Amino acid sequence: MKSLFVIMLLLGVLSCSKGVETQPVDEAPVPMAANSGDFQQAPTDVDLLVYKSASCGCCADWVAHMQEAGFTSKVEHPEDLVAVKQSWNISSEYQSCHTAVSRQGYIFEGHIPAYVIQRFLAEKPANAMGLAVAGMPIGSPGMEMGDKFEPYDVRLLRKDGKTELFTRITKPR
Ligand code: CU
Ligand code: CU
Repeated sequence: MKSLFVIMLLLGVLSCSKGVETQPVDEAPVPMAANSGDFQQAPTDVDLLVYKSASCGCCADWVAHMQEAGFTSKVEHPEDLVAVKQSWNISSEYQSCHTAVSRQGYIFEGHIPAYVIQRFLAEKPANAMGLAVAGMPIGSPGMEMGDKFEPYDVRLLRKDGKTELFTRITKPR
């Protein structure tokens, strides 16, 4: 990462030396975060593009849960899942095992119930980036373990980085 930065600096210096006078200020290269943008592409052919690790069983079960609710999906297994979450600035306290990008360009992190996502898509809250269920709550969709259930929160992630409670799930569904 550091060496990449040095290379970019060098490139910047080289390109500057070619003609600083003629280069408009607003065309200066935008600093790039690692993988920035790569994982924010909204799918056009399905409802959800899901990033997960190849071995994740609860992720596959969540995808199945979403499909049962009518959401079509495509699954990808990137080498660096953390980079996916970083590209969306999902802080570690709200991260889960998988990250989905919706056709509308929203992000859905973790084991969010389909009906909550449907409510979100109907309401389209202002300045919303998406929703997140942190960790992997027992009894959430894809995390079923018999009758076991632990209540959990669905957080609303705002584009400005702030979050708030969207809804609290107190019973399995
Ligand atoms: Cu999971
Ligand atoms: Cu998952």
